[in-house]
Amino acid sequence: MNRRPGEPAELVIRHAHVLDPATGLDGVRDVRLSSGRIAEVGEGLRGARELDADGLHLFPGFVDVHAHWRTPGREDEETIESGSAAAAAGGFTGVVMMPNTDPIVDRPVIVSGLVRRIEQESRVRARVSAALHVGLAGERLTEMRLLREAGAFCVSDDGLGTASAGVLRNGMLYARSAGLPVILHCEDHSLATGVVHDGVAASLAGLPGSPASAEDAATATALVLAAETGAKVHITHVSTALSAALVGFFKRRADVTADTTPHHLTLTDDLVSTLEGLYRVNPPLRPDEDRAGVEGALQSGVLDFVATDHAPHASEEKELPLEEAAPGFLGHETAFAALYTELVLGARLSLSRLVEAMGCAPGRWVGEGGSLAVGSPADLTLVDLSEEWTVGRGTLISRSSNSPFLGRRLTGRVVGTIVGGELVHDRTGARFGARA
Ligand code: DOR
Repeated sequence: MNRRPGEPAELVIRHAHVLDPATGLDGVRDVRLSSGRIAEVGEGLRGARELDADGLHLFPGFVDVHAHWRTPGREDEETIESGSAAAAAGGFTGVVMMPNTDPIVDRPVIVSGLVRRIEQESRVRARVSAALHVGLAGERLTEMRLLREAGAFCVSDDGLGTASAGVLRNGMLYARSAGLPVILHCEDHSLATGVVHDGVAASLAGLPGSPASAEDAATATALVLAAETGAKVHITHVSTALSAALVGFFKRRADVTADTTPHHLTLTDDLVSTLEGLYRVNPPLRPDEDRAGVEGALQSGVLDFVATDHAPHASEEKELPLEEAAPGFLGHETAFAALYTELVLGARLSLSRLVEAMGCAPGRWVGEGGSLAVGSPADLTLVDLSEEWTVGRGTLISRSSNSPFLGRRLTGRVVGTIVGGELVHDRTGARFGARA
């Protein structure tokens, strides 16, 4: 992480509305950060360096367990510097980087090289997911113990489903013995033969669809194997009502957690009628029944948290007809505002549950942050809930601009992101100063 030389070790954030579902805090407080940790939460705190947060909300830093920073190999689309700046702009203090890069992160030397670059180039805490299978080919397992020693945090073949249940079962057993969690992209490629969700919108648009069963069958298999092997399994980007219900059924039967994305919570497959490649994503946008099922599962906690699947793509890969475009959406910078605008202001999700789903629960999952309890890492997100803004190419920090929210007016904007007590994203302007 970039450390600014001479940065004072202490900061008092004054008069913020502190909302931390992990500790039950919900009210105007001052927060003292010292030596990278939360030192004190109270009233009337003063310090040599103060940030006036009057009118702003302060949350535990958001954590995104699903980020494609395209490094190594596609630095034209994203780098560790640009991806981490985009994450910080979205209030994320930590991420997990996915291994579908070029070369693929399937060898210890690639993991250790990435870990070193993260230390130098990332503004936020970035963890490395190594591949579960060599070349993401779903055949030969990677050397998970060596990958862990090299610094891998977890394993995943994200971007692809696993070729066979037998291979996946072996992968879970090895990951368990290596002490690594597994993040699973559940997709049965024998069923997923289309480019959008197979439904009315696909038929009207004349586009080849993939049935929901492509996700549901793979999710069911993964859950059964997780229950049997005892592996720590996280199912990412759940997008159907049935897959969410299956996760619920297995919650007490397996060591399983799951997330869904801001886009699957707020957008539907109606957008395929535009025929624009911008709206191609995997898993695809679904009909409103699925969107509502996933939303209900997030509300109830069956789906533990939100992850963005931040997937930058060059414009020449997205400004194409849907069938030809690369799947994926940017996610970091719009996640909070999209969910706050649609779900919280739409009275469908409480602000507290949103903060829990973006900060506390994924923070617990990665084992760091997620709470403003004294002694916790000073990872915080400062938000102006009243600011309205329009998502545009000019507002995006990412190197790419494939956001499905382009042109949308959103409410709620991250104004400051603090990692280890340091402001790594700062739109606080004149609020920041020394005590007179
Ligand atoms: O839409 C997607 N894009 N889904 C994935 O699982 C992978 C991602 C990417 O890497 O572009």
